[in-house]
Amino acid sequence: MPKPLSAADHAAVHDLADAANSADGVRPLSERTLLDLDLLHESVRHLLVWQGGELAAYAQLGRERQGELVVHPAHRRAGHGRNLLTNLAGQGAAAVWAHGDLPAARALAASVGWEPVRILRKLSRPLAEEDSAPVTLPEGYGIRGFVPGQDEADWLRINALAFADHPEQGRVTRNDLDRLIAQDWFDPAGLLLLTDASGAVIGSHWTKVDPAERAPAADGSPVPAGEVSVVALDPAVHGRGLAAPLTAAGLAHLAARGLRSVVLYVDDDNTAALRTYRRLGFTDLEVHAQYAPVSAARPA
Ligand SMILES: CC(C)(COP(=O)(O)OP(=O)(O)OC[C@H]1O[C@@H](n2cnc3c(N)ncnc32)[C@H](O)[C@@H]1OP(=O)(O)O)[C@@H](O)C(=O)NCCC(=O)NCCS
Repeated sequence: MPKPLSAADHAAVHDLADAANSADGVRPLSERTLLDLDLLHESVRHLLVWQGGELAAYAQLGRERQGELVVHPAHRRAGHGRNLLTNLAGQGAAAVWAHGDLPAARALAASVGWEPVRILRKLSRPLAEEDSAPVTLPEGYGIRGFVPGQDEADWLRINALAFADHPEQGRVTRNDLDRLIAQDWFDPAGLLLLTDASGAVIGSHWTKVDPAERAPAADGSPVPAGEVSVVALDPAVHGRGLAAPLTAAGLAHLAARGLRSVVLYVDDDNTAALRTYRRLGFTDLEVHAQYAPVSAARPA
Protein backbone atom coordinates (compact mmCIF):
# COMPACT_ATOMS: atom_id res chain seq x y z
CA MET A 1 0.00 0.00 0.00
CA PRO A 2 1.58 3.35 -0.99
CA LYS A 3 2.31 5.77 1.88
CA PRO A 4 1.27 9.45 1.95
CA LEU A 5 4.04 12.03 1.89
CA SER A 6 5.13 13.68 5.14
CA ALA A 7 4.80 17.46 5.50
CA ALA A 8 8.60 17.74 5.05
CA ASP A 9 8.52 15.64 1.85
CA HIS A 10 5.66 17.74 0.60
CA ALA A 11 7.57 21.00 1.17
CA ALA A 12 10.72 19.53 -0.42
CA VAL A 13 8.83 18.62 -3.60
CA HIS A 14 7.51 22.19 -3.84
CA ASP A 15 11.05 23.57 -3.33
CA LEU A 16 12.42 21.23 -5.99
CA ALA A 17 9.67 22.26 -8.42
CA ASP A 18 10.41 25.95 -7.72
CA ALA A 19 14.15 25.44 -8.32
CA ALA A 20 13.43 23.71 -11.64
CA ASN A 21 11.00 26.49 -12.59
CA SER A 22 13.69 29.13 -11.92
CA ALA A 23 16.26 27.22 -13.98
CA ASP A 24 14.02 26.14 -16.86
CA GLY A 25 11.41 28.93 -17.04
CA VAL A 26 8.59 26.41 -16.88
CA ARG A 27 6.87 24.66 -13.98
CA PRO A 28 7.78 20.95 -14.12
CA LEU A 29 4.77 19.59 -12.21
CA SER A 30 1.15 20.16 -13.12
CA GLU A 31 -1.47 21.49 -10.72
CA ARG A 32 -2.97 18.03 -10.48
CA THR A 33 0.36 16.42 -9.60
CA LEU A 34 0.90 19.00 -6.86
CA LEU A 35 -2.65 18.47 -5.57
CA ASP A 36 -2.06 14.73 -5.52
CA LEU A 37 0.93 15.17 -3.19
CA ASP A 38 -1.74 15.27 -0.47
CA LEU A 39 -3.64 12.35 -1.78
CA LEU A 40 -3.42 8.94 -0.24
CA HIS A 41 -4.72 7.20 -3.27
CA GLU A 42 -3.99 3.68 -4.28
CA SER A 43 -3.21 4.73 -7.82
CA VAL A 44 -0.83 7.60 -6.94
CA ARG A 45 2.79 6.73 -6.18
CA HIS A 46 5.62 9.04 -5.16
CA LEU A 47 9.31 8.40 -5.88
CA LEU A 48 11.79 10.60 -4.01
CA VAL A 49 15.55 10.57 -4.45
CA TRP A 50 17.50 12.25 -1.62
CA GLN A 51 21.14 13.25 -1.87
CA GLY A 52 23.12 15.03 0.88
CA GLY A 53 19.90 15.97 2.70
CA GLU A 54 18.45 17.59 -0.41
CA LEU A 55 15.67 16.24 -2.59
CA ALA A 56 17.55 15.57 -5.85
CA ALA A 57 14.64 14.23 -7.87
CA TYR A 58 10.94 13.47 -7.66
CA ALA A 59 8.57 11.46 -9.79
CA GLN A 60 4.88 10.77 -9.44
CA LEU A 61 2.96 7.98 -11.05
CA GLY A 62 -0.54 9.40 -11.13
CA ARG A 63 -4.00 8.37 -12.03
CA GLU A 64 -4.55 6.97 -15.54
CA ARG A 65 -0.92 5.68 -15.28
CA GLN A 66 0.51 9.06 -16.26
CA GLY A 67 3.81 10.16 -14.78
CA GLU A 68 5.70 13.38 -14.18
CA LEU A 69 9.30 13.69 -13.10
CA VAL A 70 11.75 16.42 -12.26
CA VAL A 71 15.43 16.47 -11.35
CA HIS A 72 16.88 19.36 -9.29
CA PRO A 73 19.03 21.60 -11.54
CA ALA A 74 22.04 20.93 -9.29
CA HIS A 75 21.66 17.15 -9.71
CA ARG A 76 21.18 16.80 -13.44
CA ARG A 77 23.17 14.62 -15.84
CA ALA A 78 23.83 12.16 -13.02
CA GLY A 79 21.40 9.48 -14.19
CA HIS A 80 18.48 10.38 -11.87
CA GLY A 81 16.15 11.24 -14.76
CA ARG A 82 16.76 7.96 -16.56
CA ASN A 83 16.48 5.96 -13.33
CA LEU A 84 13.17 7.57 -12.45
CA LEU A 85 11.77 7.21 -15.95
CA THR A 86 12.78 3.53 -16.03
CA ASN A 87 11.28 3.09 -12.56
CA LEU A 88 8.02 4.76 -13.62
CA ALA A 89 7.87 2.49 -16.66
CA GLY A 90 8.54 -0.54 -14.45
CA GLN A 91 5.62 0.48 -12.20
CA GLY A 92 3.28 0.63 -15.16
CA ALA A 93 3.47 4.26 -16.37
CA ALA A 94 1.88 4.52 -19.79
CA ALA A 95 3.24 8.01 -20.48
CA VAL A 96 5.06 10.97 -18.90
CA TRP A 97 4.50 14.70 -19.34
CA ALA A 98 7.39 17.00 -20.21
CA HIS A 99 6.19 20.54 -19.43
CA GLY A 100 7.90 22.97 -21.77
CA ASP A 101 9.15 20.03 -23.88
CA LEU A 102 12.68 21.08 -22.96
CA PRO A 103 15.65 19.73 -24.95
CA ALA A 104 16.77 17.68 -21.89
CA ALA A 105 13.36 16.02 -21.62
CA ARG A 106 13.32 15.28 -25.33
CA ALA A 107 16.81 13.78 -25.12
CA LEU A 108 15.98 11.74 -22.02
CA ALA A 109 12.81 10.34 -23.61
CA ALA A 110 14.69 9.50 -26.81
CA SER A 111 17.45 7.81 -24.79
CA VAL A 112 14.92 5.24 -23.50
CA GLY A 113 13.11 4.99 -26.86
CA TRP A 114 9.98 6.98 -25.90
CA GLU A 115 8.27 9.25 -28.42
CA PRO A 116 5.91 12.24 -28.22
CA VAL A 117 2.27 11.05 -28.34
CA ARG A 118 0.40 14.21 -27.33
CA ILE A 119 1.17 17.90 -27.61
CA LEU A 120 -0.51 20.47 -25.36
CA ARG A 121 -0.06 24.13 -26.23
CA LYS A 122 -0.03 26.99 -23.75
CA LEU A 123 -1.31 30.15 -25.40
CA SER A 124 -1.44 33.68 -24.06
CA ARG A 125 -3.05 36.97 -24.92
CA PRO A 126 -2.63 40.45 -23.44
CA LEU A 127 -5.75 41.85 -21.74
CA ALA A 128 -6.76 45.48 -22.18
CA GLU A 129 -9.09 47.55 -20.05
CA GLU A 130 -11.62 47.38 -22.94
CA ASP A 131 -11.79 43.59 -22.45
CA SER A 132 -13.61 44.21 -19.17
CA ALA A 133 -16.69 45.57 -21.02
CA PRO A 134 -19.80 43.44 -20.31
CA VAL A 135 -20.41 40.71 -22.91
CA THR A 136 -23.67 40.53 -24.85
CA LEU A 137 -25.23 37.07 -24.86
CA PRO A 138 -27.86 35.75 -27.25
CA GLU A 139 -31.45 36.40 -26.05
CA GLY A 140 -32.51 34.35 -23.03
CA TYR A 141 -29.05 33.27 -21.85
CA GLY A 142 -27.39 34.52 -18.71
CA ILE A 143 -24.08 34.26 -16.86
CA ARG A 144 -23.64 34.12 -13.08
CA GLY A 145 -21.00 33.10 -10.57
CA PHE A 146 -20.80 29.62 -9.03
CA VAL A 147 -22.49 29.16 -5.65
CA PRO A 148 -20.57 26.65 -3.49
CA GLY A 149 -22.89 24.12 -1.91
CA GLN A 150 -25.46 24.59 -4.68
CA ASP A 151 -23.86 24.26 -8.11
CA GLU A 152 -21.43 21.33 -7.75
CA ALA A 153 -23.66 18.67 -9.34
CA ASP A 154 -24.56 20.92 -12.29
CA TRP A 155 -20.92 21.82 -12.91
CA LEU A 156 -19.87 18.14 -12.79
CA ARG A 157 -22.67 17.17 -15.18
CA ILE A 158 -21.72 19.81 -17.77
CA ASN A 159 -18.02 19.04 -17.39
CA ALA A 160 -18.56 15.30 -17.91
CA LEU A 161 -20.76 15.91 -20.97
CA ALA A 162 -18.43 18.48 -22.54
CA PHE A 163 -15.27 16.42 -21.90
CA ALA A 164 -16.65 12.91 -22.43
CA ASP A 165 -13.69 12.13 -24.73
CA HIS A 166 -11.00 14.00 -22.78
CA PRO A 167 -8.51 11.75 -20.96
CA GLU A 168 -8.29 13.84 -17.74
CA GLN A 169 -10.84 16.64 -17.64
CA GLY A 170 -13.79 14.34 -18.34
CA ARG A 171 -12.96 12.28 -15.24
CA VAL A 172 -13.00 15.06 -12.65
CA THR A 173 -14.88 13.68 -9.64
CA ARG A 174 -16.83 15.39 -6.86
CA ASN A 175 -13.84 14.85 -4.61
CA ASP A 176 -11.51 16.54 -7.17
CA LEU A 177 -13.94 19.46 -7.46
CA ASP A 178 -14.16 19.85 -3.67
CA ARG A 179 -10.36 19.90 -3.43
CA LEU A 180 -10.12 22.54 -6.20
CA ILE A 181 -12.74 24.67 -4.44
CA ALA A 182 -10.67 24.41 -1.23
CA GLN A 183 -7.57 25.91 -2.94
CA ASP A 184 -6.46 29.42 -1.91
CA TRP A 185 -6.87 30.73 -5.45
CA PHE A 186 -10.48 29.56 -5.82
CA ASP A 187 -12.86 32.44 -6.45
CA PRO A 188 -16.53 31.48 -6.94
CA ALA A 189 -17.11 34.72 -8.91
CA GLY A 190 -14.46 33.52 -11.40
CA LEU A 191 -16.25 30.23 -12.03
CA LEU A 192 -18.86 31.50 -14.47
CA LEU A 193 -21.97 29.47 -15.18
CA LEU A 194 -23.94 29.92 -18.40
CA THR A 195 -27.69 29.45 -17.97
CA ASP A 196 -30.55 29.12 -20.45
CA ALA A 197 -33.98 30.82 -20.33
CA SER A 198 -35.19 28.28 -17.73
CA GLY A 199 -32.19 29.01 -15.49
CA ALA A 200 -30.64 25.57 -16.17
CA VAL A 201 -26.84 25.45 -16.25
CA ILE A 202 -25.69 24.64 -19.80
CA GLY A 203 -22.07 25.75 -19.72
CA SER A 204 -19.25 27.05 -17.60
CA HIS A 205 -16.05 29.02 -17.85
CA TRP A 206 -13.66 28.49 -14.98
CA THR A 207 -11.19 31.35 -14.82
CA LYS A 208 -8.32 31.06 -12.44
CA VAL A 209 -5.81 33.46 -10.93
CA ASP A 210 -2.66 31.69 -9.79
CA PRO A 211 -0.47 34.37 -8.16
CA ALA A 212 2.64 32.74 -9.65
CA GLU A 213 1.41 32.83 -13.26
CA ARG A 214 3.20 35.29 -15.58
CA ALA A 215 2.65 35.99 -19.29
CA PRO A 216 3.35 38.85 -21.70
CA ALA A 217 1.33 42.07 -21.46
CA ALA A 218 0.62 44.16 -24.58
CA ASP A 219 4.17 45.59 -24.45
CA GLY A 220 5.68 42.09 -24.16
CA SER A 221 6.77 42.46 -20.52
CA PRO A 222 5.85 39.56 -18.20
CA VAL A 223 2.98 40.45 -15.86
CA PRO A 224 0.64 38.50 -13.54
CA ALA A 225 -1.72 36.53 -15.75
CA GLY A 226 -5.12 34.93 -15.28
CA GLU A 227 -6.06 31.63 -16.87
CA VAL A 228 -8.92 30.40 -18.98
CA SER A 229 -8.91 27.12 -17.09
CA VAL A 230 -11.89 25.15 -18.38
CA VAL A 231 -14.55 26.22 -20.88
CA ALA A 232 -17.33 23.65 -21.07
CA LEU A 233 -20.57 23.72 -23.05
CA ASP A 234 -23.27 21.05 -22.99
CA PRO A 235 -22.97 19.36 -26.45
CA ALA A 236 -26.77 19.82 -26.76
CA VAL A 237 -26.22 23.58 -27.21
CA HIS A 238 -23.21 23.43 -29.51
CA GLY A 239 -23.55 25.39 -32.74
CA ARG A 240 -25.52 28.28 -31.18
CA GLY A 241 -22.58 30.69 -31.08
CA LEU A 242 -22.30 30.49 -27.29
CA ALA A 243 -18.60 29.52 -27.01
CA ALA A 244 -17.24 32.93 -28.05
CA PRO A 245 -19.34 35.05 -25.60
CA LEU A 246 -18.74 32.47 -22.83
CA THR A 247 -14.99 32.74 -23.41
CA ALA A 248 -15.18 36.55 -23.65
CA ALA A 249 -17.16 36.71 -20.37
CA GLY A 250 -14.24 35.00 -18.60
CA LEU A 251 -11.74 37.39 -20.19
CA ALA A 252 -13.94 40.31 -19.07
CA HIS A 253 -13.94 38.95 -15.50
CA LEU A 254 -10.13 38.68 -15.50
CA ALA A 255 -9.66 42.12 -17.10
CA ALA A 256 -12.05 43.65 -14.54
CA ARG A 257 -9.84 42.18 -11.78
CA GLY A 258 -7.03 44.28 -13.25
CA LEU A 259 -5.13 41.46 -14.96
CA ARG A 260 -3.31 42.44 -18.14
CA SER A 261 -2.60 38.99 -19.56
CA VAL A 262 -4.27 35.59 -19.77
CA VAL A 263 -3.08 32.07 -20.55
CA LEU A 264 -4.78 28.81 -21.49
CA TYR A 265 -3.88 25.22 -22.40
CA VAL A 266 -5.25 23.46 -25.46
CA ASP A 267 -4.53 20.13 -27.16
CA ASP A 268 -2.66 20.57 -30.42
CA ASP A 269 -5.16 18.35 -32.26
CA ASN A 270 -8.19 20.35 -31.01
CA THR A 271 -8.34 22.34 -34.22
CA ALA A 272 -11.73 23.96 -33.50
CA ALA A 273 -10.65 25.28 -30.08
CA LEU A 274 -7.24 26.41 -31.37
CA ARG A 275 -8.93 28.32 -34.19
CA THR A 276 -11.37 29.98 -31.74
CA TYR A 277 -8.58 31.03 -29.39
CA ARG A 278 -6.29 32.27 -32.17
CA ARG A 279 -9.20 34.32 -33.53
CA LEU A 280 -9.54 35.85 -30.05
CA GLY A 281 -5.90 36.97 -30.30
CA PHE A 282 -4.13 34.17 -28.39
CA THR A 283 -0.59 33.27 -29.51
CA ASP A 284 1.80 30.42 -28.58
CA LEU A 285 3.72 30.64 -25.31
CA GLU A 286 4.87 27.08 -24.45
CA VAL A 287 4.57 23.54 -25.73
CA HIS A 288 4.05 20.60 -23.40
CA ALA A 289 4.65 17.10 -24.69
CA GLN A 290 3.59 13.71 -23.47
CA TYR A 291 6.02 10.89 -24.15
CA ALA A 292 5.23 7.18 -24.28
CA PRO A 293 6.99 3.98 -25.25
CA VAL A 294 7.21 3.55 -29.01
CA SER A 295 4.74 0.66 -29.00
CA ALA A 296 2.09 3.01 -27.48
CA ALA A 297 2.99 5.77 -29.95
CA ARG A 298 2.30 3.57 -32.95
CA PRO A 299 -1.02 1.76 -32.72
CA ALA A 300 -0.82 -1.67 -34.35
C1 LIG B 1 14.61 16.01 -18.22
C2 LIG B 1 15.27 15.77 -16.87
C3 LIG B 1 14.31 14.95 -16.00
C4 LIG B 1 16.58 14.98 -17.09
O1 LIG B 1 17.08 14.60 -15.84
P1 LIG B 1 18.62 14.15 -15.64
O2 LIG B 1 18.73 13.51 -14.32
O3 LIG B 1 19.51 15.30 -15.93
O4 LIG B 1 18.79 13.05 -16.80
P2 LIG B 1 19.87 11.86 -16.81
O5 LIG B 1 21.12 12.26 -16.13
O6 LIG B 1 19.22 10.62 -16.29
O7 LIG B 1 20.11 11.75 -18.37
C5 LIG B 1 19.72 10.58 -19.11
C6 LIG B 1 19.96 10.85 -20.60
O8 LIG B 1 19.09 11.87 -21.06
C7 LIG B 1 19.75 12.68 -22.05
N1 LIG B 1 19.86 14.07 -21.53
C8 LIG B 1 19.45 14.50 -20.32
N2 LIG B 1 19.65 15.83 -20.23
C9 LIG B 1 20.20 16.23 -21.39
C10 LIG B 1 20.62 17.48 -21.89
N3 LIG B 1 20.54 18.60 -21.16
N4 LIG B 1 21.14 17.53 -23.15
C11 LIG B 1 21.24 16.40 -23.88
N5 LIG B 1 20.86 15.18 -23.45
C12 LIG B 1 20.35 15.10 -22.22
C13 LIG B 1 21.11 12.04 -22.25
O9 LIG B 1 20.98 11.04 -23.25
C14 LIG B 1 21.34 11.41 -20.89
O10 LIG B 1 22.25 10.34 -20.92
P3 LIG B 1 23.83 10.68 -20.71
O11 LIG B 1 23.96 11.58 -19.52
O12 LIG B 1 24.42 9.31 -20.49
O13 LIG B 1 24.29 11.34 -21.97
C15 LIG B 1 15.65 17.10 -16.16
O14 LIG B 1 16.34 17.92 -17.08
C16 LIG B 1 14.46 17.86 -15.64
O15 LIG B 1 14.06 17.69 -14.49
N6 LIG B 1 13.85 18.72 -16.50
C17 LIG B 1 12.63 19.47 -16.10
C18 LIG B 1 11.43 18.54 -15.94
C19 LIG B 1 11.11 17.74 -17.19
O16 LIG B 1 11.30 18.17 -18.31
N7 LIG B 1 10.57 16.53 -16.97
C20 LIG B 1 10.13 15.66 -18.04
C21 LIG B 1 11.06 14.50 -18.24
S1 LIG B 1 10.56 13.47 -19.61
